[in-house]
Amino acid sequence: MRIGVLTGGGDCPGLNAVIRAAVRKGVKEYGYEFVGFRDGWKGPLEGLTMELNLATTRGILPRGGTILGSSRTNPFKIENGVEKIKDNLAKAGIDALIAIGGEDTLGVATKLDALGVKVIGVPKTIDNDLNNTDYTFGFDTSVNIAMEAIDRLHTTAESHHRALVVEVMGRHAGWIALHSGIAGGAACILIPEVKFSVDKVCEWVESRFKSGFAPIIVIAEGAIPQDGDMQTKDQTLDAFGHVKLSGIGEWLSQQIEAKTGKEARTSVLGHIQRGGTPSAFDRVLATRFGLHAITAVHDGDFGKMVALHGTNIARVPLASATEKLKTVPIELYKESEIFFG
Ligand code: F6P
Repeated sequence: MRIGVLTGGGDCPGLNAVIRAAVRKGVKEYGYEFVGFRDGWKGPLEGLTMELNLATTRGILPRGGTILGSSRTNPFKIENGVEKIKDNLAKAGIDALIAIGGEDTLGVATKLDALGVKVIGVPKTIDNDLNNTDYTFGFDTSVNIAMEAIDRLHTTAESHHRALVVEVMGRHAGWIALHSGIAGGAACILIPEVKFSVDKVCEWVESRFKSGFAPIIVIAEGAIPQDGDMQTKDQTLDAFGHVKLSGIGEWLSQQIEAKTGKEARTSVLGHIQRGGTPSAFDRVLATRFGLHAITAVHDGDFGKMVALHGTNIARVPLASATEKLKTVPIELYKESEIFFG
């Protein structure tokens, strides 16, 4: 049996741990052979491969990024994309494909499964917004990076009596903002799921100053003010129709300065949240996903995604991962409001 592996979409810490675990179990337990496809769906589309075996996957567990490379290539936007993928998989002698990705990559995998490609999905994204899995790997590392940044911002904000706004990633889901904001003791947390009032934020800023501390405002890049718009870097869309977000943090700082007269600055964490070595939680989760993806291949249980349900690794229909975005439940967000101000 020859198994193709690809990583697509935005990279995240833990991708290499999945690749290593899948290869280790596949080779040692079942004698499978592996082919790595480069740069997401671009690999099978253009026949770009690399060797994946015990030797090429040794030592990669703690490495961030992905040894396979990634891209946001959408084969359904390319003429004869599906035929090209099927041809290249056949040429490489591939019996099954493991697609490690988020919404977009797994969306493509779901469509290919319906067209007869034997595929197993593995959920990754720092955004934690994939449906039907409690967590995706990458998220925990990114929350820890953001939390550490918030810890550092507290001391400088207090020294200078400034309000500091921290803009974090997460696209249209507020998971990173919520978890890092709670862990970092933010004066308020603003998420895309709940439109925010600038006046209310200013009240929280003032009350945090009154308590003798300086406010840290954690805002998700996709957060939207009640009287304003989502901020985008430009209007260009990627192959999956996504805009580039960012800018809402800077916009909010200006509003805070204008309305409270207090100095406010913004830190945009950006890709720092996605780089570097995975946390222990992500290494373990990614490793378990890789092992279970191979078991699914061995069982011939295609069209499935491995998922975390509680502490167990489950197998769910691939299509269920992307049928809706897993956003932050309002009740969960409300739990954190007691700390605002
Ligand atoms: O989906 C992961 C993510 O990091 C989002 O949080 C962010 O909006 C997006 O990717 C950024 O993508 P890119 O690196 O392609 O600009």
